[in-house]
Amino acid sequence: MAAAMRAMLQQAEAMRTYLISDSSKSGTPPAWAHMPFELQTPTDSNVVTPDFLRRASDYHKAFEKVGREPTPDHFNAVVAQCVQCHESNCPGPIKRINRLRIEI
Ligand code: HEC
Repeated sequence: MAAAMRAMLQQAEAMRTYLISDSSKSGTPPAWAHMPFELQTPTDSNVVTPDFLRRASDYHKAFEKVGREPTPDHFNAVVAQCVQCHESNCPGPIKRINRLRIEI
């Protein structure tokens, strides 16, 4: 699951770079693949609980929105879902994830 997370972080950084640049007005957004990370083996097998799966599902809903309509608002909603799950499961990367947020 950690490898999936690293890929998500990279793709989120690419999307952020796109959204804060001029090309967001005319260009094609960068690829940001759907990542069913909850199906992958986590470092700590106790991580996957019903609560975790609910948070994963909330994340995927926010993610679909930014896919349909890549705006800073929708992007920040995804980042909020990253942080929400990390607060319960994996606080280490929160600082780094928070840096993704776009000032609107
Ligand atoms: C539903 C819960 C959940 C969501 C949503 C989530 N994460 Fe994670 N994340 C985790 C868990 C659990 C781990 C630890 C995975 C492991 O060690 O196998 C993790 C690990 C990570 C790591 C560390 C990987 C490493 O090298 O060990 C990064 C970076 C990360 N997530 C970024 C993100 C970003 C960026 C998002 C949003 C785009 C996100 N996460 C969304 C639960 C979540």
